[in-house]
Amino acid sequence: MKVLVTGGTGYIGSHTCIQLIKQGHTPVVIDNLCNSKEMVLDRIEQVTGARPAFMQGDIRDSAFLKKVFAEYSIDSVIHFAGLKAVGESVEKPLKYYDNNVSGTLNLVREMQAANVKSLIFSSSATVYGDPASVPIKEDFPTSATNPYGRSKLMVEECLQDFHHANPDWSITLLRYFNPVGAHESGLLGEDPQGTPNNLLPFVAQVAVGRREKLGVFGNDYPTPDGTGVRDYIHVVDLADGHLAALDKMAHQPGTHIFNLGTGQGNSVLEMVHAFEAAAKRSIPYEIKPRRAGDIAECYADPAYAKATLGWTATRDLQTMVKDTWRWQSKNPNGYWD
Ligand code: NAD
Ligand code: WQD
Repeated sequence: MKVLVTGGTGYIGSHTCIQLIKQGHTPVVIDNLCNSKEMVLDRIEQVTGARPAFMQGDIRDSAFLKKVFAEYSIDSVIHFAGLKAVGESVEKPLKYYDNNVSGTLNLVREMQAANVKSLIFSSSATVYGDPASVPIKEDFPTSATNPYGRSKLMVEECLQDFHHANPDWSITLLRYFNPVGAHESGLLGEDPQGTPNNLLPFVAQVAVGRREKLGVFGNDYPTPDGTGVRDYIHVVDLADGHLAALDKMAHQPGTHIFNLGTGQGNSVLEMVHAFEAAAKRSIPYEIKPRRAGDIAECYADPAYAKATLGWTATRDLQTMVKDTWRWQSKNPNGYWD
């Protein structure tokens, strides 16, 4: 299939391009490069031997999208392009609603104009807000605790309304838990700009000497060691989840919703200790107050994805931290080296 990958030079998009190529699909990448570098395409080519077609541009730019759909005969769209920094979204909510919500509406409008009716959307476990219990199933109530989360929830709701009016479309909403890890080659990985918001990139930058120590946000949660528990999933497993969704759902009309997680919860300190073992060095940390908006525990019930897509995450915690460390130690400054 010829698959338009929006945000395809980003962290999850680039790993998905690799899996698409490996399975015989043809990705066409669009990205405005606001949070990634074109060099990622070189790395994809190094790994797969194939360089995806690339057009630089913004999903909010209708003329640009018209050109993309006119140039390539697209079968299906995997839509990663978006902004994802929770803290920034609180400071600049309009930026997030414009990019994530208006951008997606514009994309869908241009898909409709081009008669492309198959969409996979990057949603997030953040749409479950503070869940009443874990593991989390797809039919749990949804809510948002910040503008980023609300932008994902709004898009989910807009797409469901859109599907109601356009029942021949296939729309798949994939709710990712906590993506971590890197490609096993060490050539691709997560490359946050500025201070990392997420745990594992921060730990990796401490390990490589770019930062002095990790702040652990709270050790008084009702969890076994008091630190927050999350469902960390290897980015290549996550990418494979998109491939499974493409195979099974892309031509099945409906709105399909799946959790992409492992079903396993790990605490902050478990992650730190696993990373120390992989990197063979200690990670200095200090306990800090809880971070506003954080919840104690969040992990998936991935049974529906397994039953319906035949997909399950296979890479364990050791592989996640080992691959993160290989990427970080080979590329101490990410793609900027
Ligand atoms: P990323 O920032 O690495 O990738 C997103 C890409 O989209 C970047 O390359 C960026 O340049 C591009 N982009 C942003 N706005 C654009 C626009 N208007 N037009 C064109 N390109 C644009 O992020 P990621 O971690 O790969 O996340 C991909 C998607 O998955 C995002 O939608 C994110 O919200 C969602 N998601 C991520 C996580 C996570 O923890 N990484 C968790 C759940 C959901
Ligand atoms: C994980 C755990 C922190 C950093 C976020 C978004 C979510 C989704 C994934 C996009 C928590 C603790 C973290 C640090 C720490 N993104 N922590 N010190 O908050 O589960 O989810 O990314 O959709 O929407 O909210 O991930 O990696 O930030 O935090 O102690 O420096 O690590 O308190 O318990 P989170 P995270």
